Amino acid sequence: MKRILEPELMDDVAQARAYAQADFAEENQGFVDRFRAYFPDWTGGHVIDLGCGPADIPIRFLRAFPESRVTGVDASRPMLDLAREAVGEAGLADKIIFSCERFQSLALPEQADALLSNSLLHHVPNPLQFWFHLKQWAKPGARILVMDLLRPESSDAAQALVEQYAADENPILKRDFYNSLLAAFTEDEVASQLAQMNLSRLLIDVPDDRHWVVGGIIP
Ligand SMILES: C[S@@+](CC[C@H](N)C(=O)[O-])C[C@H]1O[C@@H](n2cnc3c(N)ncnc32)[C@H](O)[C@@H]1O
Repeated sequence: MKRILEPELMDDVAQARAYAQADFAEENQGFVDRFRAYFPDWTGGHVIDLGCGPADIPIRFLRAFPESRVTGVDASRPMLDLAREAVGEAGLADKIIFSCERFQSLALPEQADALLSNSLLHHVPNPLQFWFHLKQWAKPGARILVMDLLRPESSDAAQALVEQYAADENPILKRDFYNSLLAAFTEDEVASQLAQMNLSRLLIDVPDDRHWVVGGIIP
């Protein structure tokens, strides 16, 4: 099945709220646990989260690695409103700054010791721009962890995944999950993107039936 793009930003208020209210605890904590497993010597530093959404991952990350500070990038104003609220409630407002801009046109004043991104790449029309900026913002030795959805073989397979994992969720979330699966990349496509950007030292893993993960250290 060919990739079918979905809107780049999640900037509708109801859409952002449905996403923020969904229970991604297992997936998001799994992302942070995976970071620790990949980089057991990591203690802290400046972290950039690309497409941070409602900031559940930065909050979990800062609880796991209190010596860190995070720059969260997301061009959706409604998402960042929810992110600021969540970060305030978590008592972490002094550890996170947000930048409400598309990463493609963003000038960041400081490179990062670690770059995170979960579920952003499938929104991006040109994935090479994502890997280009990720490389640009990484200090030498920076840790990278990127996760996203895998595009299934067919629209029927995508619908089956929605029913398997999100049957009782808000209809907006189910719609977005389906559209995201169709917009996602295959493992081979991600491998080809990494090769084109000279990032083949990063390794791809497929941990389950709907995700790929890329991790490693920038030389
Ligand atoms: C599916 S959400 C993932 C949020 C978060 N990373 C998580 O795992 O909970 C993707 C987010 O990426 C944002 N986004 C999409 N394209 C973007 C871009 N070009 N620059 C910045 N943010 C973008 C969307 O607005 C949305 O909030």
